[in-house]
Amino acid sequence: MRDEFFKIKTYGCQMNEHDSEKIAGVLEEKGYQPTEELEQADVIILNTCCIREKAELKVFGKVGELKHLKRKNPDLIIGICGCMMQQEDVVAEIKEKYSHVDIVFGTHNIHQFEELLKEAQLKREPLVKVWDEGKELIPKMPVRREEDYRAYVTIIYGCDNFCTYCIVPHVRGRERSRPLADIVAEIKELATDGVKEVMLLGQNVNSYGQDFEQEVDFSQLLTEINQIEDLKRIRYMTSHPRDFNQKLIDTVSRLDKVCNQFHLPVQAGSNKILAEMNRGYTREEYIQLIEKIRAKNPNAAISTDVMVGFPGETEKDFADTLDLFKQVKFDMAYSFIYSQRSGTPAAEYKEQVAEEVKKERLQKLLDLQSEISREQNKSYLGQTVEVLIEGPSKKDKSKLSGRTRSNKIVICEGSDDLTGELINVKIKKVQSWTLFGEITD
Ligand code: 5AD
Ligand code: SF4
Repeated sequence: MRDEFFKIKTYGCQMNEHDSEKIAGVLEEKGYQPTEELEQADVIILNTCCIREKAELKVFGKVGELKHLKRKNPDLIIGICGCMMQQEDVVAEIKEKYSHVDIVFGTHNIHQFEELLKEAQLKREPLVKVWDEGKELIPKMPVRREEDYRAYVTIIYGCDNFCTYCIVPHVRGRERSRPLADIVAEIKELATDGVKEVMLLGQNVNSYGQDFEQEVDFSQLLTEINQIEDLKRIRYMTSHPRDFNQKLIDTVSRLDKVCNQFHLPVQAGSNKILAEMNRGYTREEYIQLIEKIRAKNPNAAISTDVMVGFPGETEKDFADTLDLFKQVKFDMAYSFIYSQRSGTPAAEYKEQVAEEVKKERLQKLLDLQSEISREQNKSYLGQTVEVLIEGPSKKDKSKLSGRTRSNKIVICEGSDDLTGELINVKIKKVQSWTLFGEITD
């Protein structure tokens, strides 16, 4: 029998990347091998994102491109899954305009992928199966990890926050936590397998356990994971500033394996906009939270997500965001242009901001943050930091790239077999997004 190949193209966040690892796990168990060449693939899966319009347009463009491959190779199976498929109008459009798509499934039923694939290969007709809600937790699936030393672990699915701009609660459903014992068992297995760093995933990890009858919370989960032998680093993403309480600050500061990286999406610096976004905190409360974190944890690296051009955002509101950035001095910020998502309250707000204005504001914010990041990184000069080596640097293959506990990218010279190792590096030069150094041990 000839070899069979698959290609999965993933859009969006880490949750999607992890879902793709599960789909790849199923395919690998069935004997398929990964390929980067679409022409060579027998199965092509697009795992989609709908957080902003741009992400959706990219997907539609890609689906269109795949049509000629299907014409050349009628045995090719094309599947689309992920957040976009949780929207009825999108699925209707796919059915109507893209008849070359064989399987459509959603985020709540990725565990049915294997059955769907089998059925599509037998029947040769398009199959659409999307669940509206997470009826159950996704059962255990094989996982094909990209790296041996690092792994994603989902701790909670869904989001109950309903920020007014956000489509996620509509496509990922209500909050559902995984049992603590399952998570701990999975991480123990990973650590035995050589995994040094785990990234705990959830749209709002601080809500962990709140849907259980017994009293379990995120602090408790972290405390248990911290005891796992051979595991070296614990990260988590994403936290909601409203729920990041003193108990959690104390816990993450106390536990030696939990990294000193805090990703706390602020979204806006104006109290008026924060209220309209339904974020549940004021700028003053946010700033106070950062102060509390820094008081306990002077070396904390703090990053954020922020949006410009939310409906009704005036120059004054935007100035409040710039001002908050100057005050807080984030290590890093993911900055986005607000995108209207149909089905969310903010999409109906009247005062939408002009595209040109949004672009200008984004540029101002990016310029400001780049300066702040460079300034923040100067404190690393001359310091020796622990780096988990990820492999050759993408920009310069002759060098190694890795990350500090604070999640800074470090470039240094060394041999490829250091990949997956924790080593000490002395920092000699810094830029906005990268530190450069020399291995000391
Ligand atoms: N438009 C732009 N950015 C958005 N995000 C969420 N919804 C939207 C939207 N409609 C951003 C938020 C969130 C990050 C993952 O994506 O900043 O924290
Ligand atoms: Fe979206 Fe808000 Fe939930 Fe984050 S917390 S996924 S921004 S609704």
